[in-house]
Amino acid sequence: MEFNEVILKRESIRNYNPERPVDMDTLNRILEAGRIAPSASNYQPWEFWLISSKEMLEKVKPCYSRQWITDAPHILVVTGDLDHAWERADGYNSLQTDLAISMHQMILAATNEGVGSCWVTNFNADILRSALGLKESVKVYGITPLGYPRETYTKRTVIMRKPLQDVATFC
Ligand SMILES: Cc1cc2nc3c(=O)[nH]c(=O)nc-3n(C[C@H](O)[C@H](O)[C@H](O)COP(=O)(O)O)c2cc1C
Repeated sequence: MEFNEVILKRESIRNYNPERPVDMDTLNRILEAGRIAPSASNYQPWEFWLISSKEMLEKVKPCYSRQWITDAPHILVVTGDLDHAWERADGYNSLQTDLAISMHQMILAATNEGVGSCWVTNFNADILRSALGLKESVKVYGITPLGYPRETYTKRTVIMRKPLQDVATFC
């Protein structure tokens, strides 16, 4: 897919066909887009958890109780270690920025593969922490379901956003 088409096509999908998992080659290409993302000082403070087994999905899905999450055949969780991210002299830690970039590269890569996704941050982090056995310095940053929408799903026709003149300054 041409790049502009990818960014126009990406939308939050809240509709998944539980009977249609994504094949491993496709999932690997999606994760690869996250792996090669840029990060401050190239510290790469991320870890990607691709959850597909019934046992792990049952542990993880209660972190955000929605039917579309229950239906998704895969959940991708992006975590990162505060102690392994770049820090500026004034204490700013780059973890969130680094993880957002890698997460969004994977979301765009999924779109390119025709795989649906949706940024989710309103999850119960404790449920995820305990399911994944994370240590204190590791933060859960974002999750996304991955899967194909049901055939009945219709894509949006309009992207609701503020007009460019309200958000851009040309000076
Ligand atoms: C950082 C971030 C967190 C989000 N968290 C959630 C969430 O917890 N639940 C949800 O349903 N959507 C979530 N979204 C999706 C947004 O609601 C969605 O991106 C926005 O409404 C624009 O719609 P679009 O993604 O279809 O273009 C999140 C998006 C971002 C970027």
